[in-house]
Formats: sequence, structure tokens, C-alpha cells
Amino acid sequence: MASRYGRGVFDTDPPLVVGRLLDGVPELVDPTQPVASAFDLGLVRGDGIFESLLVRHGAVRGLSAHLSRMADSAERLGMPAPDRSAWASLAAACADGWPSETDGVLKLVMTRGLEGLPGPPTCLATLAPVAQETLRQRRQGIAVRQLCLGVASDERARSPWLLGGAKSLSYAVNKAALRHAEGAGAQDAVFVSTDGLVLEGPTSTVVWASGHALHSPPLDSGILAGTTQVELFERAEHDGWSTVMVPTTPPDLVAADGVWLVSSVRGAAAVTSIDGVPRGDAGLTPIVHRLLDLLDG
Ligand SMILES: Cc1ncc(COP(=O)(O)O)c(C=O)c1O
Repeated sequence: MASRYGRGVFDTDPPLVVGRLLDGVPELVDPTQPVASAFDLGLVRGDGIFESLLVRHGAVRGLSAHLSRMADSAERLGMPAPDRSAWASLAAACADGWPSETDGVLKLVMTRGLEGLPGPPTCLATLAPVAQETLRQRRQGIAVRQLCLGVASDERARSPWLLGGAKSLSYAVNKAALRHAEGAGAQDAVFVSTDGLVLEGPTSTVVWASGHALHSPPLDSGILAGTTQVELFERAEHDGWSTVMVPTTPPDLVAADGVWLVSSVRGAAAVTSIDGVPRGDAGLTPIVHRLLDLLDG
């Protein structure tokens, strides 16, 4: 597949899929061809929203929950409400024919459109194989570093311009945190507020077990409402676990029976060390993976 970017980027097995909505109509496009203008506000300002979904056994997981969160993000950014049925059709068109043995990551991206030219949002979708390193982390777990996010746990609830709870395209801080953690020999990070409370990972929700209860931080701290955490808690309750969303501190995490960073594509990654101190999972990770239907991958 020749392109000005060279073969490497596009040379995946199975091949990448790219789609878009034009006037609300889904279409697949040549993945090697540009699909956005140089004046797109998503590109030049990170002004837009996105979702990352898992395609597993050929099916898009959790589409309805992701589309609901996309609508919520759009509202928080003052963007038009996404057309649910158009996005669902685009997701289905992208996943159509995706091999059942390959986990894929489906990204839905909606930007504010072109700078200075009022018009419709730019609506794109991509589907690619999940990176081998992500699958390894799902199986083997992750070392994490705790990093201060620089906001108090109650700041984003009273400052909506900070876009707490929105899955905006502005992930440069999140990616910088991941690089920082990697530079310190870890694979992921956990953000902590200035008042010392655990928030979330740069791309995941923090879940911990103690006793026969699963916990995660409350949404009023400005974290993203994780679809994986919701699904896990619903299934865990069905299995007899208690679940609770409660503020926690780093020492509470250290004392927990097990800690996981959960997200749609990687699933549940067991935290194997925090700031260089090794920790176990009390044998609970297979149970968490079973609850999330991730046992065979
Ligand atoms: C900041 C943040 N928190 C939490 C999550 C987990 O969300 P979900 O479980 O819906 O993938 C993500 C997912 O990318 C995220 O970026």
C-alpha cells in the first residue's frame, strides 16, 4: 500500500479501516488518504471529542454506552449532539468483516470542524489491531507511577471549562504523563489530586478490591465515567460482590487486595507495583477478567 507515509504505518494485518460521516452518511475511505483539513479544529486545537471501543470476536463492544458518553462529552464541549444511528452505522461498517480472532481498537472522533468556517463537525472512525504491548499488559499487568495532576479533587466540579468528565481530544497531558511514567520504568500512571486523592489513569479508571467489595473513585472528582468500570461493577454485583464509588488515598490503594486500571481496549490490567513497590492481586485478576469476558485473550 504505497503512500507518502511509507508502508510501515499502514502495513497491519488485518489492514486498517477508516470511515467517515459525510452529511450524516457513513462511508469507508482509503486509509492511506487524508480525511481532515489542515484547518480542522481537532487538528490545530485538539478541540473535539472521541471514544475508543474494543472490537472482539468481530463485534463492537459497549457501543450504546460509548455513544451515550460521546453525547455527554459533546454537551460538555458545547458541540452538536452526535447522531446516534449514523455513528452506530459507521461503527458497524468499519467492523464489518473484521476477523474474529483479532482484537481491534475502534476510534470514533468528532471535531468542531473548520476554524473560522462555521460548518458541520468532522466525523471520523478508525479501526486497527490492538497493539501487542496492550495485550501483554492485559495478560501480565502493569507497574504504575502516581503523578500529581495539579487540580484539587473538587475543582473540576465547579470549573466546567476544565472539561472534567469529557473525553476531549486534548490528551497531550495524558500522553505526557504516560511518557513520564515510562521514563521511570513503569507502564502506566495514576493521577492524584493536589488534596491527595486518587483520580484515574491517563486512559483508564482505577478499580481496587478490599474485602469482598470493588471500589473506584467518585465521578464528582472530574474523572471520566468509565464504561468498563460500570460494566465490571454491574457484573460483579450479579456475582455477589459489593461495589462502591468512594474517595481514596494512595495508602489505601497500597493496602488493597488488588488494584486494576480498567479501560475498554486493554480491559483490566492488574497493577503489579506502585511507585516501585511490588504488589499482588490476591488471585483476583482471573475473576475480573472473567467478569469482563476477557479470559481467552
Ligand atoms: C481518562 C480516562 N479515564 C477512564 C477511561 C476508561 O474508560 P472506558 O472504560 O470507557 O474505556 C479512559 C478511556 O480511555 C480514559 O481516557
